[in-house]
Amino acid sequence: MKVAIKGMGFYVPEEVVTNFDLEKILDTSDAWIVERTGIRERRRAKDTELTSDLAVNASKMAIKNAGIDPTDIDFIICATASPDYLFPSTGCIVGTKLGLGGVPAVDIAAGCTGFIYALSIAHGLLATGNLKNVLVVGAEELFKIVDPEDRSTYVLFGDGAGAAILGLSEDDSGILGWELRADGGYGELLMLPARGVALPLNQETIEKKLHYVKMKGNEIFKLAVRCMGDVSLSLLKKLGMNSSQLDWIVPHQANIRIIQALAKRLDVPMERVIVNVDKYGNTSAASIPIAICEAIEEGKIKKGDVVLLVAFGAGLTWGAMVLRI
Ligand code: UT7
Repeated sequence: MKVAIKGMGFYVPEEVVTNFDLEKILDTSDAWIVERTGIRERRRAKDTELTSDLAVNASKMAIKNAGIDPTDIDFIICATASPDYLFPSTGCIVGTKLGLGGVPAVDIAAGCTGFIYALSIAHGLLATGNLKNVLVVGAEELFKIVDPEDRSTYVLFGDGAGAAILGLSEDDSGILGWELRADGGYGELLMLPARGVALPLNQETIEKKLHYVKMKGNEIFKLAVRCMGDVSLSLLKKLGMNSSQLDWIVPHQANIRIIQALAKRLDVPMERVIVNVDKYGNTSAASIPIAICEAIEEGKIKKGDVVLLVAFGAGLTWGAMVLRI
């Protein structure tokens, strides 16, 4: 029996930060950001609003859309690179805020590929037949971990959350296959150096701003284009499919130029690619669920559509999944 998405939800904070707002505080311009990234605005959470709060809002919508009661959830997986704390996990906090004390919960740290990793793990858990409903949520507050004085990262990221309820399929919808990859050898290209045990927070690490995201954007760009294309084509081959059988591609929303290069490599017109990087920027593990859910709400992605999800991010990690909605 297949494992399918039974309902989805998303939540973005109210505050909109436009490129014009960023022009006022950084040596940057709307023209540069739009041309190099496709981003026009992004959302920022309040100081008092935590990653777990965004996750809870998205999860409540997914629970409603799946037509289940919160108490029907028997496992929670939260994908995040910006957790409330190193521990307890954000998954545990989300469970408590949903009134689900006692339900197992865990975080997945797979950067921007986190949501695809989490879906794949939920797929494996449900396939054992021991569980009925798994909540998978990708949630990020990246504004709180990027350097407000670093134009090369501060303009790229945004806050938000997207969630899905997964369960056994009752029709022909479901996950058709996935392929995941990782290579820690490239980890330093995109990392948050301090805050862990390797470089604990202290005056020196703070002065050197090592508690903020560091990214070699150019190198990540080239690897993202190559790896997202490779993993997508490899998965399609494994499934005996070609890209013309895909109704939609939902790529990780990091940069419009990466998305366009991917579409070209897969020979899929941009009309069949979901893009919202202009509105939300790069929301890491939240970007794919926000994009799918919004596309469903807008009537683009419909029941029965075959969709390719593909992402690339810190780790480095990358992966793809094909599913019928
Ligand atoms: O989520 C998964 C991981 N992340 C990604 O996939 C992001 C991948 N990388 C990218 O999207 C792009 O590499 C960036 C958008 C980050 C940068 O675009 P780029 O075309 O690779 O630019 P660059 O880093 O080569 O920088 C070109 C110039 C530099 O100036 P010089 O050295 O040529 O004088 C930068 O200093 O652009 C400058 N620059 C900026 N200028 C205005 C960098 N950031 C900005 C900025 N505004 N915000």
